[in-house]
Amino acid sequence: MDNFTYCAPTRILFGKGTIPAIAPHISAHGVQRLLLVFGGGSARRNGVYDALTAALRAAGILWDEFWGVKPNPSLEQVNAGIAKARAFGAQGVLAVGGGSVIDCGKAIAAGVHLDDYWTFVETRKPAERALPVFAVLTLSGTSSEMNDKAVITNEAEAKKWSIGGQCLAPKVTAIDPQVQATLPWSLTASSGIDAMTHVMENYFRGRPATAGNGFFREETQLQINEALLRSIVLSLNALQKDSASYDARANLAWAACWGLNGMSVAGLSSGDWTSHALEHALSGLFPHIPHGAGLAVLFPSWMEEVYPFAPDIFARFARNVWAISCNPADPASVLEAAQKGVAATRAAFSGWGAPDNLSHWGVREEHIPVMMQNAYSYRALGRLVPLNEEQVTRIYKRVL
Ligand code: NZQ
Ligand code: ZN
Repeated sequence: MDNFTYCAPTRILFGKGTIPAIAPHISAHGVQRLLLVFGGGSARRNGVYDALTAALRAAGILWDEFWGVKPNPSLEQVNAGIAKARAFGAQGVLAVGGGSVIDCGKAIAAGVHLDDYWTFVETRKPAERALPVFAVLTLSGTSSEMNDKAVITNEAEAKKWSIGGQCLAPKVTAIDPQVQATLPWSLTASSGIDAMTHVMENYFRGRPATAGNGFFREETQLQINEALLRSIVLSLNALQKDSASYDARANLAWAACWGLNGMSVAGLSSGDWTSHALEHALSGLFPHIPHGAGLAVLFPSWMEEVYPFAPDIFARFARNVWAISCNPADPASVLEAAQKGVAATRAAFSGWGAPDNLSHWGVREEHIPVMMQNAYSYRALGRLVPLNEEQVTRIYKRVL
């Protein structure tokens, strides 16, 4: 097992009716002037806005509001939010929504202390200063509610790049799964798939899986991740049948939170993350594509490309997530199970109604070189298997 540092500094207020409880925590952090950041209006429709602002008023907190953060938030919006936070003299940021709103809130919180947000993104350095961030989560999937990352799109350059830094991790996040009952099924499914891919990006990491004698090097971590994956699958299956099931929502929310809060990667180097790089290049160029839906298409295509290079770990995944068995002493049986695990993943995604190709979003073969160049410009691709341009082209092309 690799050395690691694990720190999850976010206080989580989880469960029914927990949203108003965030207000006293904000006061306790010495924040009296707050910028509230929202998306396109769901927070008004599901009652979150009223419950939250009543609690802020009761706590004596003053606030200003920044509305309209869109899915795959843009640099332009971050800059507008920074201007608003400065003009109001905000001492903290409270983001109310899914990953896009929380990421935008984090970027605003860091950007207040920067000369120029994008110039800083290009340095690839961790953010060291930000206004304290708080969050009310209304869509579970990204884990932005409990991690130190923010992903913003520079639309002019078609670049969707992230920043990190401990100061970006929310101080406190309220997660009331009840407010996610207003989500359309497609968003529940694609965000649940996003959470699965976070776990899988780390699970299929870049070195041989076994330490000899069939012993897997990071047994504890792999078992935690398999449990997270099984739980997300069960929760999505339950929600597909009954979207009102509180317990299914709650389990999905909690598992998704752990998908990318640092826990799923502890001891596993830094994961593979090719599929995310390819998806960010995709939605950087086509900002109307929901992140989780893009991954539902690309992740199985990446698996298809790489499973023959690492059949042991894919066969283990097949057994412990999809109950597909094999004879570990027989390489042909291991390879067959690995392939069946990939097929089972793809089948589950399409059973939940996720898209299985890119062309219905208007993506064509001519877009592949620019997406590929963009993905490579951010980082080398492929830790499980280093990928060349031919392989990356195949991953995109397979799902056109
Ligand atoms: O804008 P509103 O009106 O709020 O509607 C949103 C939005 O249209 C809607 N929604 C949210 N909560 C709702 C609701 N609709 C009804 N009822 C509710 N309770 O959902 C739509 C999508 O929201 P969005 O925030 O875009 O979704 P998601 O949480 O999937 O976030 C995606 C963004 O997060 C980034 C993605 O790249 C993408 O930009 N990611 C952030 C990560 C991180 N910070 O660690 C990691 C991820 O891998 C990912 O890259
Ligand atoms: Zn993701």
